[in-house]
Amino acid sequence: MKVFIIAAQTADGFIAKDEHHGAFWTSKEDKKRFVELTKKAGVVVMGSTTFKTLPRPLQERINVVYTRSTEEIPGAITTSLPPLELISKLESEGHKEVAICGGASIYDLFMHSGAVTHLYLTIEPLLFGQGVTLFKGGLNTPLELVSEEKTEHGTLLLEYKVINKLV
Ligand SMILES: NC(=O)c1ccc[n+]([C@@H]2O[C@H](COP(=O)([O-])OP(=O)(O)OC[C@H]3O[C@@H](n4cnc5c(N)ncnc54)[C@H](OP(=O)(O)O)[C@@H]3O)[C@@H](O)[C@H]2O)c1
Repeated sequence: MKVFIIAAQTADGFIAKDEHHGAFWTSKEDKKRFVELTKKAGVVVMGSTTFKTLPRPLQERINVVYTRSTEEIPGAITTSLPPLELISKLESEGHKEVAICGGASIYDLFMHSGAVTHLYLTIEPLLFGQGVTLFKGGLNTPLELVSEEKTEHGTLLLEYKVINKLV
C-alpha cells in the first residue's frame, strides 16, 4: 500500500499562516500535481480543520475526515481510527494508494504511526515568517530523494521515499 503525504510549504517551512488559512496560495504546478496524485490515489485523508478550509469535498475522490465528533459530514466519511487500522481497512476494501492531505496534526499522526511510505513536498519561493509547520512533534526519519523538479517561477516539486517502509 502506498501511503503518501502531500504538502506544500514556504521556503521558511510553513504550510499555512494559521489554522484557518487555506492552501490556495500555492503555485499552479503544485495544484496540478496535487490533483493528479490525489485523483490517482482515489482516497484523500485530512483533519476536520483542513476540510473546513475547502469550499466543498474534493471531487472524484473518497474524502476521509479525521474528527472526534460524531456528527456526519456531507460528502465525507468521518473517522478517528488509528492510522494503521484505517490503512488496513482501506486496503481490505481494495484501495492501493492513500493521500494524506494534512493539516499538521494529521501529517504528524500518520508520520509517527509508521504508515507513511512517500512524501510529495512542494517548496514555494515565499516566506510567512510564522505559522503552522508540517509536523508538530519531533522526528528522526531518513528520506531518499526520488525526484526533483524546478518550475520557471522557482517552485521546487520534490518526491521522497521514506526509508525502511514497505510499499
Ligand atoms: N500547505 C499545505 O500543503 C497544507 C495542507 C493541508 C492543510 N494545511 C493547513 O493546515 C492547517 C490545519 O492544520 P491543523 O493541524 O490545525 O488541523 P488538521 O490536522 O487539519 O485538523 C485537526 C482536527 O483533526 C481532528 N483530529 C486530529 N487528530 C485526530 C485523531 N487522532 N482522531 C480523531 N480526530 C482527530 C480533530 O478534529 P475535531 O476538532 O473535529 O475533533 C482536530 O481538531 C490549515 O491552515 C490548512 O490550510 C496546509
